[in-house]
Amino acid sequence: MSDINSYIKKNKEKFLNELLDFLRIPSISADPAYVKDVKKAAQFLKERMKEVGLKHVKVHQTKGHPIVYGDYIVDKKLPTVLVYGHYDVQPPDPIELWDSGPFDPVIKKTKIHPRGAIFARGACDDKGQAYMHIKAFEAMMANEGVPCNVKFMIEGEEEVGSVHLEEFCRANSKLLAADVVLISDTSIIANDIPSVTVGLRGLSYLEVEVTGPNKDLHSGVYGGAVANPINVLCNMIASLKDENGHITIPKFYKDVVELSEGERKAINKAPFSLKNYKAGLGIKDIDGEKGYTTIERSSTRPTLDVNGIWGGYIGEGAKTVLPSKAFAKISMRLVPNQEPEKITKLFSTYFKKIAPKGVTIKVTPHHGGMPAVTPTDTIEYEAAHLAMKESYGKTPIPVRGGGSIPIVSMFEDVFGIKSVLMGFGLNSDDIHSPNEHYGLFNYYKGIETIPLYFKYYSELKSK
Ligand code: BES
Ligand code: MN
Ligand code: MN
Repeated sequence: MSDINSYIKKNKEKFLNELLDFLRIPSISADPAYVKDVKKAAQFLKERMKEVGLKHVKVHQTKGHPIVYGDYIVDKKLPTVLVYGHYDVQPPDPIELWDSGPFDPVIKKTKIHPRGAIFARGACDDKGQAYMHIKAFEAMMANEGVPCNVKFMIEGEEEVGSVHLEEFCRANSKLLAADVVLISDTSIIANDIPSVTVGLRGLSYLEVEVTGPNKDLHSGVYGGAVANPINVLCNMIASLKDENGHITIPKFYKDVVELSEGERKAINKAPFSLKNYKAGLGIKDIDGEKGYTTIERSSTRPTLDVNGIWGGYIGEGAKTVLPSKAFAKISMRLVPNQEPEKITKLFSTYFKKIAPKGVTIKVTPHHGGMPAVTPTDTIEYEAAHLAMKESYGKTPIPVRGGGSIPIVSMFEDVFGIKSVLMGFGLNSDDIHSPNEHYGLFNYYKGIETIPLYFKYYSELKSK
């Protein structure tokens, strides 16, 4: 066993207990009621980062939630890895669907995680995965040291669109200067099938408001004669996809870079069990755009989904009402080279166009993000490939992720550097859902793999 691996083994309990303490802080970035807890999580990170020997550790205030920075410069001539992660988490709602408190981490065995998994909001996304990097740094320092320079930037606003990160990056470009960004905030295919993420989808998120009559009306007196905004909204949403699951917004697919047959074949080579997929989600059948596989539908194809819809009477019993307004939150996942702002405009124009005359439409854009692809013919990718190959004893498969991490394209724009998406979670870890969890195997495997990344990256860079 390598020195680093025996160090991890010796410190197993400590590494776990520290993460559990981190998970006990409800750092929900979206909810103003938790501002203090978000701050507390940043302070917690600062202390842990100082403890392991990082320098210049500081909680940087922004107009929103703070960013925690720390670095360790071995030699200015050596390459620099910028580790990015986020310590903020999604709201735990609906809370009644959790089997244990979202901020009361417990360890339970599951079928997929026979050695146990930590159940808590943020366990996988992204506190657990970000914390692996601090422990990996500790393990390196306790042994041969770090082979190149390392900088940490862990933010508190990823789940609300990283609103203040770009400004911070531009203002601190010297401090953050690096050769590559290393991110663990994605998934592997399975615990015995490692993978490296080589692409992410973008996002366009907006809210629509449909207004009919100037007040709620009696549905008997007016029903049938006045447009009902909820009925109208449902019809409009339904018409946004045709019978083949294609999105009907004109020019929506115009900028989509179609994959070659070869690329499609490669993507579909990744192991996938339709039976397990359906069973895991409790669905009888899958659904989606005609002509594409489930892997493609959930990673290389754009989508349109309603995230929430409301209006009218939803209280106890029945109230006969024809509501004045109806609302929905709608998101579109984008693929290269779709641009969120362009797509939001296309949506908005079309949505207003298809509305019947009896209603007025308001579209309010929320945050968005650019899609990203990362090349596989680089030293940066090769290092992740070699690191995973060594720690898992299996060749990792390059995969495209369906989620979004908008800062990946921002780092490219601002610093001109690429990211390596070396995540360790599983798609079945229920991130953003009730009972989010992170396998102990995954946590320790991450801590074991990260030092190998630094080793191979430094070796390849100095060749
Ligand atoms: N870590 C996720 C993104 C992710 C998850 C990528 C799994 C690939 C696989 C990240 O925290 C996230 O949830 N991002 C948001 C976007 C953001 C703008 C709110 C998302 O994808 O919805
Ligand atoms: Mn995340
Ligand atoms: Mn997330």
